[in-house]
Amino acid sequence: MDPVLKVTNLTKVFNGLRAVDGISFEVARGEIVGVLGPNGAGKTTTIAMILGLLTPTAGTIQVLGMSMPQERQRILARVNFSSPYVAMPYNLTVLENLLVFAHLYGVQAPGKKIRELLEIFGLSTHSHQLTGRLSSGEATRLGLVKALLNDPEILFLDEPTASLDPDAAEHVRQTLLRIQQERGMTLVYTSHNMQEVERLSHRIIFLHRGRIIAEGSPAEVLRRFQQESLEQLFLEVARKQ
Ligand SMILES: Nc1ncnc2c1ncn2[C@@H]1O[C@H](COP(=O)(O)OP(=O)(O)OP(=O)(O)O)[C@@H](O)[C@H]1O
Ligand SMILES: [Mg+2]
Repeated sequence: MDPVLKVTNLTKVFNGLRAVDGISFEVARGEIVGVLGPNGAGKTTTIAMILGLLTPTAGTIQVLGMSMPQERQRILARVNFSSPYVAMPYNLTVLENLLVFAHLYGVQAPGKKIRELLEIFGLSTHSHQLTGRLSSGEATRLGLVKALLNDPEILFLDEPTASLDPDAAEHVRQTLLRIQQERGMTLVYTSHNMQEVERLSHRIIFLHRGRIIAEGSPAEVLRRFQQESLEQLFLEVARKQ
């Protein structure tokens, strides 16, 4: 495997709480990896450390062969992310915000790129709207547009479909799959929608209390735990421990 991401013994302790507790995993180029687990399992914290937004208590992170946080700037030029917890300036318009990010990323022909992505995510008519006035589903889709501006080699998405209606969620899944296939992009994402995770992921990483309790293709994991669906497995794990 050609790992584009390699995490070793990654740990984050917040005031004595081991939010991420010594996890190790690799992700291959072109893989779709679903990170799942109960609220507070450590998913967002893990992604935040990989992106250099949080400093690990221990462990190492290699992204595209470079070390985080030592080579943070070079890494961030080639990856991207979206998260419902990272808001854009609300008093700028959608277009203004995207132009700022496109400039930061050094996007060639930013106007064209922005128009294409706004169209794909159904936001063309909102380009002159103030970002703070978007509905939550629109803001989520704007986050995806921003995340795709620099044609990232690895895209990290924290709950990309959480605020979307079923039709918009399906559209986002299809779009991400298409882009993933066209460009061989690697996708690492979190979701509480077990059907979605089962359908989309080549591999899942199941976190519980900061540790990886299961890893493999959805089918492998279900076989090992003798479960019919990820939803059942999830309920079993979350209720037992
Ligand atoms: N900055 C922080 N300071 C203190 N504790 C934190 C901080 N960030 C996260 N935590 C705690 O670390 C644990 C893991 O949080 P994290 O956000 O990674 O969970 P998660 O798996 O993303 O959960 P969810 O499904 O609810 O999004 C939680 O118990 C959370 O309260
Ligand atoms: Mg989270």
